Amino acid sequence: MVSGNGHRAHGFSSVNFLDSDEILAELNLKGSETFMDAGCGDGHIAIKVLNDYIDEGMVYAVDVYDASIEDMENYKQKNNIQNLINIESDITEGIPGVDDESIDIILMVNVFHGFKASRRLDEAVTELKRIVKKDGKIAIMDYKAWDVPNGPPTQVRNSPEDLKNLFKEHNLKMTYLNEQIGEDIPEGKSHYLIMFEKE
Ligand SMILES: C[S@@+](CC[C@H](N)C(=O)[O-])C[C@H]1O[C@@H](n2cnc3c(N)ncnc32)[C@H](O)[C@@H]1O
Repeated sequence: MVSGNGHRAHGFSSVNFLDSDEILAELNLKGSETFMDAGCGDGHIAIKVLNDYIDEGMVYAVDVYDASIEDMENYKQKNNIQNLINIESDITEGIPGVDDESIDIILMVNVFHGFKASRRLDEAVTELKRIVKKDGKIAIMDYKAWDVPNGPPTQVRNSPEDLKNLFKEHNLKMTYLNEQIGEDIPEGKSHYLIMFEKE
């Protein structure tokens, strides 16, 4: 699938229906963070961060889909970007080359429900916990657990409460929840954004 920025993605890119500035404003980035767009797809969020939010920091773009990472590598070379690291990897198998406790903020947009679908929730959280710094943040933006036509099947959606319980089992505490974010749909706002930190 080719997205709005001409890059390939293995699922629906959120570029045409979510406002990346609305999402990134939630993170209060200062510009020197090590940021990871985990499940970057066409990379539109990682690119936005590089262009508008991070100057001295580092951006990681991670995806299991080889074509997404190939396109991000081409983007990096073409634009001579020094502070972008692209990694082709399955998050639930471990992300090679990323040190323990080295990432300030990990953002996953429309990715986390996939771990429920593949029954790899615990494996995903284990890896995210390994790489996030002690005072770092894991931010998840995903579809509300509603039975509505747009988005993933209802049975793979996680509610904020589901995630709170899952992360608690891994000694990660919820530090932020916004349930008024995303697209306007007849039922209300389509998404929530939740953040976790180490206890
Ligand atoms: C629906 S797309 C969202 C892409 C992007 N975050 C966005 O908002 O446009 C989900 C992405 O997550 C990636 N993905 C799914 N499971 C993954 C895994 N286990 N490890 C790494 N990437 C994964 C897919 O390849 C796909 O690019």
